[in-house]
Amino acid sequence: MSDTASLRGDYSNIGPDYAVEQNWAAYTGEQHALYRRLYERQSALVPYLACAEFNKALAMLDADKGIPRFDQVSRRLRRATGWEIVPVPGLVPDEVFFRHLAEKRFPVTVWLRKPEEFDYIVEPDVFHDFFGHVPLMFDPVYADHMCEYGKGGLKALRLGGLKYLARLYWYTIEFGLIKSEDGVRAYGAGLLSSGGELGFSVQSPKPARRPFDLMTVMASDYHIDSYQDQYFVIDDFGQLMQETAPDFTPLYEKLKREEKAAA
Ligand code: PHE
Ligand code: CO
Repeated sequence: MSDTASLRGDYSNIGPDYAVEQNWAAYTGEQHALYRRLYERQSALVPYLACAEFNKALAMLDADKGIPRFDQVSRRLRRATGWEIVPVPGLVPDEVFFRHLAEKRFPVTVWLRKPEEFDYIVEPDVFHDFFGHVPLMFDPVYADHMCEYGKGGLKALRLGGLKYLARLYWYTIEFGLIKSEDGVRAYGAGLLSSGGELGFSVQSPKPARRPFDLMTVMASDYHIDSYQDQYFVIDDFGQLMQETAPDFTPLYEKLKREEKAAA
C-alpha cells in the first residue's frame, strides 16, 4: 500500500515514519458523540462475546467518554507492556507498519468515520483501531506476539511471503476466535469493533469455526467485503505465540510451491 494519494486521511504532515499529531482538540462535539454511540453499542456486546483479556483491559481504560487521548493511554500502556500508540493519518505502507510493530508502537488512525458509516466502514478509522486493537495491547503475551509479528513482517517482505503473513494477520489479529470456559469468544479487532460480525462470528450456525492451524491459515484466502465464512479458533495467546515462533522461511517456500502446482 504505497499509493497514499488514493487513501482517506490527511497525509500532508506526516513524519518519515508516517506519524502525525493526534490534534485531539480539533475533534468536534459531534465526533465525540458518534464515538460514544459506537462505544455504547460495542460495550453492550463484548461482555458475552469478547475474550476475558479484552474485557479486563477495556474496563480499566475508561474510554467511554469520547475519542480517547492517545498520549494518556500511551503512558499507561508503556507501564503495562512497553508499547505506545503512534497516531497515523490512515493506512501506512507495509514496511512502515511492520517497523512500528517491531519497535512496540501501535499505529492508530486519527480520523473518525462519518455518521452514515456507523454500521460499516471499509478503511480502519480511530474507532476500529482504538477499540478493536488497543485493549489487547495491555496483555503481555498478546503484546509480545504483535512485536514478533512486526519483525516477521519485515522478514516476509524480504522473502516474498507477505501474502501468507497477511492471511495470518487477517485470521488472527483481525478475525480470530479464542476458546474460553464459556465457549468461543472473539479476540480479533475486526470482530470486536463490528456491530454485526461480532455476534455472527461467535454465535451464528453459518460460519465454520476451525481449530487454528498455521499452514491452513496461511493457505486460506479471505474476503474483505462480507462476513467471513470461516474463523480459526486458538486455545489461548500462548498457542498463537508458540505456533508462530518457528522460522517461516521454509513455510513460505512450501506455500509458493503448492500455489504454483495448483495453478
Ligand atoms: N516466526 C515468523 C518467521 O520466522 C515470524 C512471526 C512471528 C510471524 C510471529 C508472525 C507472528 O518469519
Ligand atoms: Co485492524
